[in-house]
Amino acid sequence: MTDFVTVTSDAPEARTGAIKLHGAAAFAGMHKAGRLAAETLDMLVPHMVPGVATAEIDRLVYDFIVANGGVPATLGYRGYTHSSCISINHVVCHGIPGERTLKAGEIVNVDVTPILDGWHGDSSRMYLVGDVPIRARRLVEVTYECLMLGIEAARPGAHMGDVAHAIQRHAERNRYGVVRDFCGHGLGRLFHDAPEVVHVGRPGTGPELRPGMIFTIEPMINIGRPDVKLLDDGWTAVTRDRSLSAQFEHSIGITDSGCEIFTLSPKGWTQPPYQ
Ligand code: MF3
Ligand code: CO
Ligand code: CO
Repeated sequence: MTDFVTVTSDAPEARTGAIKLHGAAAFAGMHKAGRLAAETLDMLVPHMVPGVATAEIDRLVYDFIVANGGVPATLGYRGYTHSSCISINHVVCHGIPGERTLKAGEIVNVDVTPILDGWHGDSSRMYLVGDVPIRARRLVEVTYECLMLGIEAARPGAHMGDVAHAIQRHAERNRYGVVRDFCGHGLGRLFHDAPEVVHVGRPGTGPELRPGMIFTIEPMINIGRPDVKLLDDGWTAVTRDRSLSAQFEHSIGITDSGCEIFTLSPKGWTQPPYQ
Protein backbone atom coordinates (compact mmCIF):
# COMPACT_ATOMS: atom_id res chain seq x y z
CA MET A 1 0.00 0.00 0.00
CA THR A 2 1.45 3.35 -1.01
CA ASP A 3 1.51 6.06 1.62
CA PHE A 4 0.65 9.63 0.54
CA VAL A 5 0.86 12.79 2.63
CA THR A 6 -0.40 16.27 1.77
CA VAL A 7 2.29 18.90 2.33
CA THR A 8 1.06 22.36 3.29
CA SER A 9 3.71 23.95 5.49
CA ASP A 10 6.82 25.82 4.40
CA ALA A 11 8.88 23.98 6.99
CA PRO A 12 11.81 21.77 5.97
CA GLU A 13 10.49 18.47 4.73
CA ALA A 14 11.28 15.12 6.28
CA ARG A 15 12.25 12.00 4.37
CA THR A 16 9.48 9.77 5.70
CA GLY A 17 9.05 7.36 2.80
CA ALA A 18 5.55 8.71 2.12
CA ILE A 19 4.89 10.31 -1.27
CA LYS A 20 4.30 14.03 -0.78
CA LEU A 21 1.38 15.80 -2.47
CA HIS A 22 2.44 19.42 -2.90
CA GLY A 23 0.36 22.57 -3.32
CA ALA A 24 0.49 25.66 -5.50
CA ALA A 25 3.34 27.32 -3.57
CA ALA A 26 5.56 24.30 -4.16
CA PHE A 27 4.72 24.27 -7.87
CA ALA A 28 5.60 27.97 -8.11
CA GLY A 29 8.91 27.37 -6.31
CA MET A 30 9.70 24.38 -8.51
CA HIS A 31 9.00 26.40 -11.67
CA LYS A 32 11.59 28.99 -10.59
CA ALA A 33 14.22 26.43 -9.58
CA GLY A 34 13.51 24.38 -12.70
CA ARG A 35 13.87 27.41 -14.96
CA LEU A 36 17.27 28.15 -13.42
CA ALA A 37 18.36 24.56 -14.13
CA ALA A 38 17.24 24.94 -17.76
CA GLU A 39 18.92 28.33 -18.15
CA THR A 40 22.13 26.82 -16.78
CA LEU A 41 22.02 24.04 -19.39
CA ASP A 42 21.21 26.64 -22.10
CA MET A 43 24.17 28.78 -21.01
CA LEU A 44 26.58 25.87 -21.57
CA VAL A 45 25.74 25.35 -25.25
CA PRO A 46 28.53 27.51 -26.75
CA HIS A 47 31.05 25.98 -24.33
CA MET A 48 30.46 22.32 -25.23
CA VAL A 49 33.23 22.28 -27.84
CA PRO A 50 36.52 20.39 -28.33
CA GLY A 51 39.32 21.34 -25.93
CA VAL A 52 37.19 22.54 -23.02
CA ALA A 53 37.98 20.78 -19.71
CA THR A 54 35.03 19.37 -17.76
CA ALA A 55 36.27 21.26 -14.67
CA GLU A 56 35.83 24.47 -16.69
CA ILE A 57 32.24 23.49 -17.53
CA ASP A 58 31.63 22.78 -13.84
CA ARG A 59 33.00 26.23 -12.93
CA LEU A 60 30.64 27.87 -15.45
CA VAL A 61 27.74 25.97 -13.82
CA TYR A 62 28.78 27.11 -10.33
CA ASP A 63 29.23 30.75 -11.36
CA PHE A 64 25.91 30.88 -13.25
CA ILE A 65 23.85 29.27 -10.49
CA VAL A 66 25.36 31.46 -7.76
CA ALA A 67 25.05 34.64 -9.89
CA ASN A 68 21.33 33.86 -10.19
CA GLY A 69 20.77 33.44 -6.45
CA GLY A 70 20.99 29.66 -6.30
CA VAL A 71 23.27 27.03 -4.75
CA PRO A 72 24.33 23.79 -6.50
CA ALA A 73 22.68 20.95 -4.56
CA THR A 74 25.49 18.54 -5.41
CA LEU A 75 28.14 20.64 -3.59
CA GLY A 76 28.85 18.67 -0.42
CA TYR A 77 26.12 16.14 -1.21
CA ARG A 78 27.26 12.79 0.26
CA GLY A 79 30.85 13.97 -0.10
CA TYR A 80 30.50 15.09 -3.74
CA THR A 81 32.45 18.32 -4.24
CA HIS A 82 31.31 19.61 -7.66
CA SER A 83 28.41 21.64 -9.06
CA SER A 84 27.50 19.25 -11.87
CA CYS A 85 27.93 15.71 -13.11
CA ILE A 86 29.51 15.45 -16.56
CA SER A 87 29.22 12.04 -18.19
CA ILE A 88 31.03 11.41 -21.49
CA ASN A 89 30.37 8.57 -23.97
CA HIS A 90 30.22 5.27 -22.03
CA VAL A 91 29.84 7.05 -18.69
CA VAL A 92 26.24 6.42 -17.63
CA CYS A 93 25.98 9.07 -14.91
CA HIS A 94 27.77 10.87 -12.05
CA GLY A 95 30.91 11.63 -14.10
CA ILE A 96 33.20 13.84 -11.99
CA PRO A 97 34.42 17.10 -13.56
CA GLY A 98 38.20 17.32 -13.93
CA GLU A 99 41.12 17.90 -16.30
CA ARG A 100 39.59 15.73 -19.04
CA THR A 101 38.82 17.81 -22.15
CA LEU A 102 35.98 17.36 -24.61
CA LYS A 103 36.87 15.80 -27.98
CA ALA A 104 35.10 16.07 -31.32
CA GLY A 105 32.72 13.17 -31.85
CA GLU A 106 31.82 12.71 -28.17
CA ILE A 107 28.36 12.74 -26.60
CA VAL A 108 28.17 14.39 -23.18
CA ASN A 109 25.53 14.62 -20.46
CA VAL A 110 25.59 17.55 -18.05
CA ASP A 111 23.35 17.19 -14.98
CA VAL A 112 22.67 20.22 -12.77
CA THR A 113 20.53 20.78 -9.67
CA PRO A 114 20.29 24.38 -8.48
CA ILE A 115 18.55 25.01 -5.16
CA LEU A 116 16.58 28.27 -5.42
CA ASP A 117 14.57 29.58 -2.45
CA GLY A 118 14.79 26.07 -1.00
CA TRP A 119 13.44 24.25 -4.07
CA HIS A 120 15.47 21.79 -6.19
CA GLY A 121 15.45 22.01 -10.01
CA ASP A 122 17.06 18.82 -11.35
CA SER A 123 17.70 18.46 -15.08
CA SER A 124 20.19 17.02 -17.52
CA ARG A 125 20.70 17.13 -21.25
CA MET A 126 22.96 15.61 -23.87
CA TYR A 127 25.39 17.70 -25.94
CA LEU A 128 27.14 16.74 -29.18
CA VAL A 129 30.80 17.80 -29.38
CA GLY A 130 31.73 18.69 -32.96
CA ASP A 131 30.67 16.16 -35.59
CA VAL A 132 29.19 13.07 -33.96
CA PRO A 133 28.69 9.74 -35.78
CA ILE A 134 25.08 8.91 -36.72
CA ARG A 135 25.05 5.84 -34.43
CA ALA A 136 25.65 8.04 -31.37
CA ARG A 137 23.28 10.80 -32.55
CA ARG A 138 20.55 8.21 -32.91
CA LEU A 139 21.07 7.01 -29.33
CA VAL A 140 20.75 10.60 -28.11
CA GLU A 141 17.57 11.16 -30.12
CA VAL A 142 15.89 7.94 -28.96
CA THR A 143 16.85 8.69 -25.34
CA TYR A 144 15.17 12.09 -25.58
CA GLU A 145 12.09 10.41 -27.05
CA CYS A 146 12.12 7.93 -24.15
CA LEU A 147 12.06 10.78 -21.62
CA MET A 148 9.20 12.55 -23.41
CA LEU A 149 7.16 9.34 -23.79
CA GLY A 150 7.58 8.79 -20.05
CA ILE A 151 6.40 12.33 -19.37
CA GLU A 152 3.38 11.86 -21.66
CA ALA A 153 2.39 8.83 -19.59
CA ALA A 154 2.61 10.83 -16.33
CA ARG A 155 -0.91 11.93 -15.38
CA PRO A 156 -3.33 11.38 -12.47
CA GLY A 157 -4.67 7.85 -12.34
CA ALA A 158 -1.73 6.40 -14.24
CA HIS A 159 0.86 4.32 -12.41
CA MET A 160 4.64 4.61 -12.19
CA GLY A 161 4.77 1.36 -14.17
CA ASP A 162 3.04 3.13 -17.09
CA VAL A 163 5.82 5.72 -17.19
CA ALA A 164 8.46 3.01 -16.96
CA HIS A 165 6.81 0.88 -19.61
CA ALA A 166 6.60 3.76 -22.11
CA ILE A 167 10.34 4.35 -21.70
CA GLN A 168 11.36 0.68 -21.80
CA ARG A 169 9.20 -0.15 -24.82
CA HIS A 170 10.65 2.61 -26.96
CA ALA A 171 14.24 1.90 -25.93
CA GLU A 172 13.98 -1.84 -26.49
CA ARG A 173 12.19 -1.43 -29.83
CA ASN A 174 15.39 0.32 -30.85
CA ARG A 175 17.43 -2.56 -29.39
CA TYR A 176 18.90 -0.40 -26.63
CA GLY A 177 19.38 -1.35 -22.98
CA VAL A 178 17.66 0.58 -20.16
CA VAL A 179 19.81 1.07 -17.05
CA ARG A 180 18.24 -0.47 -13.93
CA ASP A 181 20.74 0.65 -11.29
CA PHE A 182 19.72 4.34 -11.17
CA CYS A 183 16.24 5.81 -10.98
CA GLY A 184 14.38 9.09 -10.99
CA HIS A 185 13.13 10.37 -7.65
CA GLY A 186 10.74 12.61 -5.83
CA LEU A 187 12.14 16.07 -5.07
CA GLY A 188 11.09 19.45 -3.78
CA ARG A 189 12.70 20.90 -0.68
CA LEU A 190 14.57 17.58 -0.60
CA PHE A 191 16.95 16.55 -3.42
CA HIS A 192 16.13 12.85 -3.36
CA ASP A 193 12.80 11.72 -1.89
CA ALA A 194 10.08 9.11 -2.41
CA PRO A 195 8.88 7.87 -4.83
CA GLU A 196 11.53 5.93 -6.71
CA VAL A 197 10.91 6.48 -10.44
CA VAL A 198 11.99 3.34 -12.28
CA HIS A 199 12.55 3.34 -16.04
CA VAL A 200 11.56 -0.28 -16.71
CA GLY A 201 8.28 -1.80 -15.66
CA ARG A 202 4.86 -3.11 -16.44
CA PRO A 203 1.72 -1.03 -17.07
CA GLY A 204 -0.56 -0.63 -14.07
CA THR A 205 2.11 -1.49 -11.50
CA GLY A 206 3.74 0.71 -8.87
CA PRO A 207 2.32 3.74 -7.07
CA GLU A 208 -0.63 5.55 -8.61
CA LEU A 209 0.13 9.09 -9.74
CA ARG A 210 -1.83 11.86 -8.01
CA PRO A 211 -2.03 15.63 -8.46
CA GLY A 212 0.66 17.34 -6.38
CA MET A 213 3.35 14.68 -6.84
CA ILE A 214 6.72 16.13 -7.89
CA PHE A 215 9.48 13.91 -9.28
CA THR A 216 12.16 13.51 -11.92
CA ILE A 217 12.20 11.19 -14.89
CA GLU A 218 15.78 10.53 -16.03
CA PRO A 219 16.23 7.45 -18.22
CA MET A 220 19.76 6.23 -18.94
CA ILE A 221 19.82 4.29 -22.23
CA ASN A 222 22.74 2.21 -23.53
CA ILE A 223 23.52 1.12 -27.09
CA GLY A 224 24.49 -2.23 -25.53
CA ARG A 225 23.58 -4.10 -22.36
CA PRO A 226 21.87 -2.33 -19.42
CA ASP A 227 24.60 -3.36 -16.96
CA VAL A 228 26.73 -0.73 -15.24
CA LYS A 229 29.92 -0.77 -13.20
CA LEU A 230 31.07 1.73 -10.59
CA LEU A 231 34.64 3.05 -10.97
CA ASP A 232 37.08 3.20 -8.04
CA ASP A 233 36.32 6.89 -7.46
CA GLY A 234 33.02 5.70 -5.96
CA TRP A 235 30.90 7.90 -8.25
CA THR A 236 31.50 7.34 -11.96
CA ALA A 237 29.11 4.74 -13.38
CA VAL A 238 30.07 3.26 -16.75
CA THR A 239 28.50 0.68 -19.04
CA ARG A 240 29.97 -2.73 -18.29
CA ASP A 241 30.35 -3.45 -22.02
CA ARG A 242 31.77 0.06 -22.65
CA SER A 243 28.90 0.85 -25.04
CA LEU A 244 27.72 4.46 -25.37
CA SER A 245 25.11 5.71 -22.90
CA ALA A 246 22.79 8.73 -23.01
CA GLN A 247 20.45 10.42 -20.52
CA PHE A 248 17.96 13.28 -20.35
CA GLU A 249 16.26 14.44 -17.15
CA HIS A 250 13.30 16.70 -16.40
CA SER A 251 11.65 17.62 -13.10
CA ILE A 252 7.85 17.46 -13.36
CA GLY A 253 4.73 17.93 -11.24
CA ILE A 254 1.46 16.01 -11.61
CA THR A 255 -1.54 18.32 -12.16
CA ASP A 256 -5.29 17.63 -12.28
CA SER A 257 -5.12 17.07 -16.04
CA GLY A 258 -1.61 15.76 -16.71
CA CYS A 259 1.75 17.16 -15.73
CA GLU A 260 3.86 20.30 -15.87
CA ILE A 261 7.55 20.25 -16.80
CA PHE A 262 9.51 22.57 -14.49
CA THR A 263 12.81 22.36 -16.38
CA LEU A 264 11.85 23.38 -19.93
CA SER A 265 14.39 25.52 -21.79
CA PRO A 266 13.19 29.14 -22.15
CA LYS A 267 14.99 29.04 -25.52
CA GLY A 268 13.09 25.95 -26.62
CA TRP A 269 16.32 23.91 -26.65
CA THR A 270 15.02 20.41 -26.10
CA GLN A 271 17.62 18.14 -27.70
CA PRO A 272 20.79 18.71 -29.74
CA PRO A 273 21.77 20.32 -31.98
CA TYR A 274 20.88 23.44 -29.96
CA GLN A 275 20.73 26.51 -32.19
N1 MF3 B 1 21.53 15.16 -10.32
C1 MF3 B 1 21.62 13.74 -10.05
C2 MF3 B 1 20.21 13.21 -10.16
O1 MF3 B 1 19.63 13.38 -11.19
C3 MF3 B 1 22.23 13.44 -8.72
C4 MF3 B 1 23.66 13.76 -8.64
S1 MF3 B 1 24.21 13.48 -7.05
C5 MF3 B 1 25.86 13.74 -7.18
O2 MF3 B 1 19.63 12.70 -9.25
F1 MF3 B 1 26.29 13.77 -5.97
F2 MF3 B 1 26.41 12.79 -7.91
F3 MF3 B 1 26.10 14.89 -7.79
CO1 CO C 1 17.62 13.48 -10.58
CO1 CO D 1 20.03 15.21 -12.10
